[in-house]
Amino acid sequence: MKNYLVTGGAGFIGANFVKYLLKKHSDIQIVVLDDLTYAGNLGTIKDDLADPRLSFVKGNITDSAVVASIFEKQPIDLLINFAAESHVDRSIENPQLFLQTNILGTQNLLDTAKKYWTTGKDENGYPIYREGVKYLQVSTDEVYGSLGETGYFTETTPLDPRSPYSASKTGADLIVMAYSETYKLPVNITRCSNNYGPYHFPEKLIPLIINNILEGKKLPVYGDGSNVRDWLYVEDHCKAIDLVALNGRTGEVYNIGGHNEKRNIDIVRLTIATIRRLMEENPAYKKALKSPSSDDISWINDNLITFVKDRLGHDQRYAIDPAKITRELGWYPETRFEDGIVKTIRWYLENQDWVKEVTSGEYQHYYEEMYGNR
Ligand SMILES: NC(=O)c1ccc[n+]([C@@H]2O[C@H](COP(=O)([O-])OP(=O)(O)OC[C@H]3O[C@@H](n4cnc5c(N)ncnc54)[C@H](O)[C@@H]3O)[C@@H](O)[C@H]2O)c1
Repeated sequence: MKNYLVTGGAGFIGANFVKYLLKKHSDIQIVVLDDLTYAGNLGTIKDDLADPRLSFVKGNITDSAVVASIFEKQPIDLLINFAAESHVDRSIENPQLFLQTNILGTQNLLDTAKKYWTTGKDENGYPIYREGVKYLQVSTDEVYGSLGETGYFTETTPLDPRSPYSASKTGADLIVMAYSETYKLPVNITRCSNNYGPYHFPEKLIPLIINNILEGKKLPVYGDGSNVRDWLYVEDHCKAIDLVALNGRTGEVYNIGGHNEKRNIDIVRLTIATIRRLMEENPAYKKALKSPSSDDISWINDNLITFVKDRLGHDQRYAIDPAKITRELGWYPETRFEDGIVKTIRWYLENQDWVKEVTSGEYQHYYEEMYGNR
């Protein structure tokens, strides 16, 4: 039996990961630690919380007492750190919060894990750890900086972050590697490309475009829309993290990518065309439209796109070479983008209650109801 601590498990990827673990493994216990910032929604995992294998703690990863109390209550074997401030635009507005959560929060988790996992010292003074424990840091391809028109990031590409967000994630990665070198703490770092899929907060590109179309709003695209990202279906990412946590070589970094580079403008155009096609094929989906809610959906077209002033320091291209994880762990991105984007859009059309809940803050009432008086 494995005991997991999943931080940030009420956010987009963390919640998908919790659902994946519960489906994949029977003999596990999971504690989710999440501070429920604007990006964390307990509603996303509320059905899962009925499962006795899952429990939830509201708290900040920078709070050493909260993290220690979790290790006191159960013998954590695997700590998977998703918790982070994750939006580049917000990091440009408020860098300090990013450094606090992403760097100091990571360091606090590492320290606590080290303390509770240490069973003794070897003859050179290095800590000895309990069998089977591991810390996994969920990082990003953005730590490698920006690419020109060709080439791929590999695990040995020099770190060259450009935004306060990516700089804070790079700082966290360096601290993780420092604990691996200095204290021989068993760690892995995974660096993934842009995820897409269900439960994505509607401030990020794909859910934002879907949401704006449903609200009859313009679709803002930075600059000329030529920035290229590699897109990875979130469930494929979850599978990769599970494989690295269980079988990855200790101390190694693994890149996780979708082999699926797209320009932002093409993602937006494809999203527009797919929503319209799905609504034409199944008129019941038109019910998701808030405004203008008419039968005639010819207005859902590329004219909704509006180009806005580019993001400061906008990286031009990210592209990941995931050959190492394929070679060592047999992982590859199973979901073709053409299928993943349809699944994602269908999910949003069918789950407008979730969107309403996370954007209206209703989940906070849910939290009060569930946990307010504990
Ligand atoms: N979404 C992507 O495409 C992507 C790509 C590369 C890497 N990542 C990394 O993956 C991880 C998860 O990303 P996501 O998109 O799910 O993010 P998210 O913003 O959807 O979720 C982050 C979660 O962390 C929680 N959190 C934030 N600060 C916290 C704190 N101080 N203490 C406890 N909990 C806190 C939030 O409440 C939220 O539930 C992040 O570390 C991010 O850097 C994401």
